[in-house]
Amino acid sequence: MRNRRASDRRSVRIGLLGCGTVGQAVVRTLTGSAATIERATGHRLEVGPILVRDPSKERPGIDPALITTDPAAVIEDPSVTLVVEVMGGLDPTLDHLRTALRRGASVVTANKQLLSRHGPELLAMAEQAGGEMRFEASACGAVPVIKVLRESLLAAEVTAVTGIVNGTTNFILTEMAKGGGGYDEVLARAQALGYAEADPTEDVGGADAAAKMAILSSIAFHARVHLDDVPYEGIDRLQSEDIERAASLGFVVKLLGVARADDGSISVRVYPALVPRGHRLASVGGADNAVLIESRATREIMLVGPGAGGDETASAVVADVLAIVGTPQWSFLHNALVDSGRSVAPAGETTSAFYVRMSVADRPGVLARVASVFAEEGLSIRTVVQSGSGDEASLVLILHAGLERRMEAAMARVRALDDVRGEPVVLRVLGSGEGGS
Ligand SMILES: NC(=O)c1ccc[n+]([C@@H]2O[C@H](COP(=O)([O-])OP(=O)(O)OC[C@H]3O[C@@H](n4cnc5c(N)ncnc54)[C@H](OP(=O)(O)O)[C@@H]3O)[C@@H](O)[C@H]2O)c1
Repeated sequence: MRNRRASDRRSVRIGLLGCGTVGQAVVRTLTGSAATIERATGHRLEVGPILVRDPSKERPGIDPALITTDPAAVIEDPSVTLVVEVMGGLDPTLDHLRTALRRGASVVTANKQLLSRHGPELLAMAEQAGGEMRFEASACGAVPVIKVLRESLLAAEVTAVTGIVNGTTNFILTEMAKGGGGYDEVLARAQALGYAEADPTEDVGGADAAAKMAILSSIAFHARVHLDDVPYEGIDRLQSEDIERAASLGFVVKLLGVARADDGSISVRVYPALVPRGHRLASVGGADNAVLIESRATREIMLVGPGAGGDETASAVVADVLAIVGTPQWSFLHNALVDSGRSVAPAGETTSAFYVRMSVADRPGVLARVASVFAEEGLSIRTVVQSGSGDEASLVLILHAGLERRMEAAMARVRALDDVRGEPVVLRVLGSGEGGS
């Protein structure tokens, strides 16, 4: 399906196994972004049959005519050339995927348990029948770590992959480190907030992280690492006291997946570990995932982002679908087909928050005169610090986000005030509404 010319444009029928949290988000993304996808790939992606257990469930935005309880409608129909597996579990999922792959369909799956046990067999079947199998969402949700390992770093000789690959446990450990309570109390809160399953055993016991590390290390080291090859410990026996003691010694406790390749062998393990507070992985908090990849060529590269969630995981699933369908060989930069028609906004029409420092005359009413200039230009002040006296008097302001051209106009007027000495310093403030107008 790859690298087709415009004249090869065609419709690709996608069947889904499962339509829960991830499946519904996949359908929403495929339909919501249909025009963009067609422009960028040259293919019209059509959502075909969707397998579920209970067809009577509410599925907002999903055409009920597509819902089926007959697996054959997805896995055996030759018009379905790409099967997205988001039903989870091993049985009957494994057999469904074998059937689809055997007839040459391509498969995208988010199923870490399946991949970490049966990945090599399924990939071999795909190769034999001329299909493709991709599984980005099976490790670290939205974070495109598999694509980076298998494509960008293919020849970089990866020597280590260290990851926070389970969001539930990272959330629990982050809360415990903040003094948010003991393990049981924080786990109950994580369940109430939807960060932990009703049965959290796979997550807190380390099995989920072990499955992801088996997948990541297989790709990173071009090896076959089965889930059974990964010894794991979880966080279920961790005590608040040790988290506090670690903190007092300058460490945070994280559940880590640690995979290393030496000359002749590989080791892959999952365990809770003390991470020095200055280490990059120490700052990864909440339910985020992060993977630190070390390679001879690139030294360290860290990828961070949401490891779960419907839309987040669907983003990785859809990325795999698009990788299978393929984008045209022609460059994105000059191809009229992929031009969305959006233009670049003039710099003055973008917004930013600002820091301003100026030397001012030490006389009454200075602040009011400066503030009124900003107010007349529609810019509001968030923070003011006045300091010094005489020739040393200075004024530091932080302004809320506003249009760049209004800021330029305001500063031209501020510079012209009698009260202002020398050239004011103006810097932009990140994360306070900067961006397009
Ligand atoms: N949720 C996440 O944040 C996340 C993140 C990364 C990876 N994943 C992976 O993505 C997959 C799907 O997760 P999810 O959260 O979307 O699960 P989910 O909400 O429980 O949805 C599962 C779907 O599969 C269907 N299904 C399950 N067993 C079936 C069977 N035997 N026959 C027919 N249909 C069946 C269910 O049908 P009904 O609707 O009729 O019950 C449901 O539509 C799993 O492999 C999971 O590990 C999920």
